Amino acid sequence: MNVLVIGSGGREHAIVDALSKSKKVSKIYCAPGNAGIAKQAELVALKDTDVEKLVAFAVEKNMDLTVVGPETSLAAGITDVFRENNLRIFGPSKNAAQIESSKRFAKNLMIKYNIPTAAYEVFTDFEKALNYVKSKPFPAVLKYDGLAAGKGVVIAENLDEAEIALKDMLVNDKFGEGKVVIEDFLEGPEFSFLCLVNGTEVYPMPLTQDHKRAFDGDKGPNTGGMGVYGPLPFITEDDKKFALENIMKPTAEAMMKEGIPFSGVLYGGLMKTQNGIKVIEFNARFGDPETEIILPKLKSDIFDVFCGIADGKHIEIEWDDYPILGIVMASKGYPDHYEKGFEIKIPNDIETTIYHMGTTEKNGKLLTAGGRVMIVIGQGKDLNDARIKALESVKKIECENLFYRTDIGLK
Ligand code: AMP
Ligand code: GLY
Repeated sequence: MNVLVIGSGGREHAIVDALSKSKKVSKIYCAPGNAGIAKQAELVALKDTDVEKLVAFAVEKNMDLTVVGPETSLAAGITDVFRENNLRIFGPSKNAAQIESSKRFAKNLMIKYNIPTAAYEVFTDFEKALNYVKSKPFPAVLKYDGLAAGKGVVIAENLDEAEIALKDMLVNDKFGEGKVVIEDFLEGPEFSFLCLVNGTEVYPMPLTQDHKRAFDGDKGPNTGGMGVYGPLPFITEDDKKFALENIMKPTAEAMMKEGIPFSGVLYGGLMKTQNGIKVIEFNARFGDPETEIILPKLKSDIFDVFCGIADGKHIEIEWDDYPILGIVMASKGYPDHYEKGFEIKIPNDIETTIYHMGTTEKNGKLLTAGGRVMIVIGQGKDLNDARIKALESVKKIECENLFYRTDIGLK
């Protein structure tokens, strides 16, 4: 079978790696991919949002399956166009992906169907938004209602911060013209609950926790994720059951009732608060870096899993669960300004898995090509052992422009 993976990060590298273990898959393409993916798939020089060209490519190569990584491809309507062309594709429709691309859509759905989340209001007017913030205790949670590459959420500690953020979102249109969702501040540990969803059938994946802050001790700016681990010591079996029965399944059912059935990965960004588990956000895709430690635990054939979900069929799926974590190596300066093009040397004696997130090859040299550059995976008898193993590999990788956290999974 021929498979096309769309995207270019660590998530897509992990998907390609898992597909390469399937006996049913003979050829893997990845558009646009990266230097690590190039070792396991043929790279296709097409942008992940260039839907027309991607469709033409899939038709030409008789693609049996296409798997979508990024939210931007989903928001560009890639799945709808592929399906119109009778091509099998794994991922939700553009309409269903609104659960991620529109904070307002997600919030309205949760309130309508009693899915636990923070109370909220929606604003388009700057003055009204500011008055609402003034009437509530701080911190205030301000969310731009659209895709903003992880930068559309501001936790304002005081009125000055709130005013600046609201001005950016509603007056200066920093992320584009749009609305703002203002919601109550919740507290507690966050975790990622990814489920494969096929209409109303919901298949849970192992739980993980992302580390969003740039530096050790959860210091520094928010990033796309600097490390990830699982299983989670602070989540009980009852918690997981609650999240599945009261959040993930009802959300899939709500989408069905709204006439927008969900197909693909529904990713619950959840928080364990003192008043129970609540939804912080939903994503409509695999998480990055979560996927890099989830897919290695899949015991079933991933090709069958993807096809089953894409075809709307019942699937059989089995998972391992053992301590595993990933440490992200990022370009110095990330998530703000950073330089690219630094050489990376990976010695041959590294035994742990490495997934590339932002790399390229030029004249036989491996170079940095993104904010997050690679993720090093460690497994062990417990999380600390896994962390030590991953760190040993991290320290062997030579590159003058990378930094990483040393405390992933320690909390
Ligand atoms: P989101 O993009 O909605 O996941 O928000 C990004 C981050 O902001 C989350 O991972 C949380 O750490 C934080 N956050 C979002 N909403 C809330 C909230 N209601 N209360 C506290 N923190 C929040
Ligand atoms: N790790 C966060 C995300 O994929 O959105």
